[in-house]
This record gives sequence, structure tokens and C-alpha cells, in this order.
Amino acid sequence: MSRIGLFFASSTGNTRRIAKSIKKRFDDTTMAEALNVNKATAEMIAAYSHLIFGTSTLGGGQLPGLSTDCMGGGWEEFLPQLKDVDFTGKTVALFGLGDQDKYPDEFVDALGEIYHFVVVRGAKVVGAWPADDYDFISSKALVDGDFVGLALDQENQKMLTDSRVDTWLKLIAPEFGF
Ligand SMILES: Cc1cc2nc3c(=O)[nH]c(=O)nc-3n(C[C@H](O)[C@H](O)[C@H](O)COP(=O)(O)O)c2cc1C
Repeated sequence: MSRIGLFFASSTGNTRRIAKSIKKRFDDTTMAEALNVNKATAEMIAAYSHLIFGTSTLGGGQLPGLSTDCMGGGWEEFLPQLKDVDFTGKTVALFGLGDQDKYPDEFVDALGEIYHFVVVRGAKVVGAWPADDYDFISSKALVDGDFVGLALDQENQKMLTDSRVDTWLKLIAPEFGF
């Protein structure tokens, strides 16, 4: 089995595209195909020691899911299925998409929600990302002034996405053994 599991939820496909572009950088023995959480199970998550989770923020600060028109569901439905998964010993890296211009008060909030969910269950979360190059008012994804994972904005900073992903993957590489 691949050592790294890559799971995402997405409404219009932006997060799916980023997840697939991350997977493209690695072979199948290193990383599994990016899988939509609406097709995932708790057993799959439990089987990996290293995980990358991707999410958009929808509905004004919410996790993607049925209530925000994600076909087949998203993290809103999947996180409750993970409530009994023990993340102790697991290394998790997070990336999140948002729109800092339209949603400056809830920028990438869902990233923060997933972070807190896995941290209380014992995960080691790596890949904190500086918030300097963004223009927003508040975000639940900030801890000690940094985002808890990679923040991406396809609406306003699409040109920066590729280099941000590359830099972030280098940042988490030592923890993920790439
Ligand atoms: C109805 C709606 C609500 C949104 N709410 C937020 C939000 O609260 N915070 C944020 O940062 N982005 C918000 N966004 C922006 C999305 O996160 C962004 O467009 C993202 O790229 C969508 O990715 P997806 O297609 O993978 O779901 C919202 C977008 C829509 C359409």
C-alpha cells in the first residue's frame, strides 16, 4: 500500500484539481490516488500513518458537505465517521481553499475545523504556513499567527498556487519522507 493517503472534499472541483496535482508529483508507491471523502471509509484513514487532507470552505465558514451542495457529501458528513479513529502516531498535513476577497471574515475556516478535529484525536499536524501574503480579516485556521496548513485562493491568487504547493511540499517532505 502507498504510504501516504490523500483525501479531499470539493464542490466545484477546485480542491479536487489541487489534490490531483499534488498526487501527480509522486509515484503510486509513495502516494495513493487522491480520493474524495464521499467515497472513503474510516478504515482507509486508520490504515495510513501519513495523511494529506484537502478542503474548501463553503457556506460562510463551513466544511464542504451536503448542506453546501457538495454532490455525494464531504467533510461535513465524513468527519463524524472518523470520531473514533485514533490519530496517535499519525502525521497529517492540511491544505485548504478559500476566497479572501469575498469571505475575509471566514477565510479558509474549514482548514481550522479539520485541524482541531485531528489534533484532539492525537495527530501530529505539520505544514503550518505563514499568513503574510494574504489579505483577510479573520480565520479559524490561524494558530499563533500561522495557518495550520497551506492556504490557497484560486479566485484571487491563482498565479501563486503552483509555487505555494511546491514550497509547502518541500516544507513537509522531511516529515513525510518524500
Ligand atoms: C457559497 C460559497 C461560500 C463560500 N464560503 C467561503 C468561506 O466562508 N470562506 C472562504 O475562505 N471561502 C469561501 N468560499 C470560496 C471557496 O472556498 C472557493 O471558491 C474554493 O476554491 C472552492 O473550492 P471547491 O470547488 O473545491 O469547493 C465560498 C464559495 C462559495 C461558492
